[in-house]
Amino acid sequence: MYYKIVTYGCQMNVHESEKIAGLLEAEGYRPCADGENADIVVFNTCCIRDNAERRALGNIGVIKAEKKKNPALVLAVVGCMTQQDGAAETIRNKYPYVDIVLGTRDISLLPSEIRKVLSARAKAEKGAKKYRCFDNSFPEDYSDIDEATPVVRTSFPNAWVNIIYGCNNFCSYCIVPYVRGRELSRDMGKVLDEVRRCVDEGYGEITLLGQNVNSYGHDLHAKGVNFAALLGEIDKIDGKFRVRFMTSHPKDLTEEVADVMAESAKICNNLHLPVQSGSNKVLADMNRRYTREKYLSLIDMLRAKMPDIGITTDVMVGFPTETEEDFADTADLMRQVRYSNAFTFVYSPRKGTPAAAMPQIPYEIKKRRIGELIKLQNSVTKELSETYKGGVYEVLVEDVAPKYGDSVCGRTESGRLVTFGGSPDLVGKFVNVKITEARSASLFGHIE
Ligand code: SAH
Ligand code: SF4
Ligand code: F3S
Repeated sequence: MYYKIVTYGCQMNVHESEKIAGLLEAEGYRPCADGENADIVVFNTCCIRDNAERRALGNIGVIKAEKKKNPALVLAVVGCMTQQDGAAETIRNKYPYVDIVLGTRDISLLPSEIRKVLSARAKAEKGAKKYRCFDNSFPEDYSDIDEATPVVRTSFPNAWVNIIYGCNNFCSYCIVPYVRGRELSRDMGKVLDEVRRCVDEGYGEITLLGQNVNSYGHDLHAKGVNFAALLGEIDKIDGKFRVRFMTSHPKDLTEEVADVMAESAKICNNLHLPVQSGSNKVLADMNRRYTREKYLSLIDMLRAKMPDIGITTDVMVGFPTETEEDFADTADLMRQVRYSNAFTFVYSPRKGTPAAAMPQIPYEIKKRRIGELIKLQNSVTKELSETYKGGVYEVLVEDVAPKYGDSVCGRTESGRLVTFGGSPDLVGKFVNVKITEARSASLFGHIE
């Protein structure tokens, strides 16, 4: 019996798919190779923007043909999309061949629901009603989700480790707090245990996950437990490994966290700090709760402590109240900060969020603005790449890079991707690489 998981969305979803794989493998299912027929297909969905949602729904539609060929196929839809108002109903009515819908806090029910579908099918007389499951209830207590769920990790040498679920911030454009619920921090001892296990298994990089990692611990009411303390404890774990984390909300990033980053050997000098906009008016309308000045002072503070830090960001254009002047402020901030990379997004109205009810900006304007930001960032990235030339950097080898012959690729501590000659057995190892060539975002070199 074979399974296939199709994942959309952020790292949180990528990691949740590893838990879904764990649940299915514990039931005896095996991963399905490309082109093979699966007995169960799970769509792990995202609804952060309209295109993410449309892609998922489109591909669920495509499965209809596969189900016709193989009526025994079990089809499950899980993840953020299922948690939106009316989504489960829509799937129930428009996609009659979907057997199981489970919400973001209900994935541990997947094995038992599959068994129910299969046993109902085995028993059903011709024409009898088939069993379908639509459970996107939002149980208050799902704190054992990581403790009780086996994980089949798929991104060696990086291991994802959840530290906090949900989001309390309600940025006015964002659907996440509605589909992922309130913040819930994992017990610190359990996080440390998981990190230790990953290091013992040979993972060279641990990435801590949360929608806002900086608010880790506030709900645990345990003395001295916060994100900085967690990083400090992880740094003390024996072994050669690196730690990254995402995402940091600028309003909650403390100097204490920056100090731990600067002083620790294992926490990478690399930070993803989404700014969203460079205009104070737009930031206020977005309910981000920091100003442009506060954000820039954070950047100064970080660079004073870690001159070589690689900083990346998320930026949005076309928020309903964004004027040309506001957009110019964003471009200006990006020029000032000089990010090593920026993920740029066109604002997409999400039903039920405050910004979706405001008058919207025409698509042509959004398109022009995002084009300008991408161009601007590309030129900054290119300039920064040049500064790596001639230097020697420690790189954790992540993968083979067959496009460049007998080559492998990996990242510097600051998060830059480097490609260089090497054999596949280097994957998972740390090597020193001399950078000899820079092509926009990619660096090339050879092992020293
Ligand atoms: N919790 C993280 C990331 C959340 S989603 C944070 O607070 O930064 C990742 C990115 O998607 C966001 O940073 C934002 O830039 C973008 N995003 C969120 N909602 C969006 C929307 N409605 N339209 C376009 N982009 C959006
Ligand atoms: Fe969305 Fe804001 Fe929460 Fe990030 S912090 S997930 S952008 S509401
Ligand atoms: Fe998408 Fe959910 Fe992540 S909406 S971006 S998969 S938290």
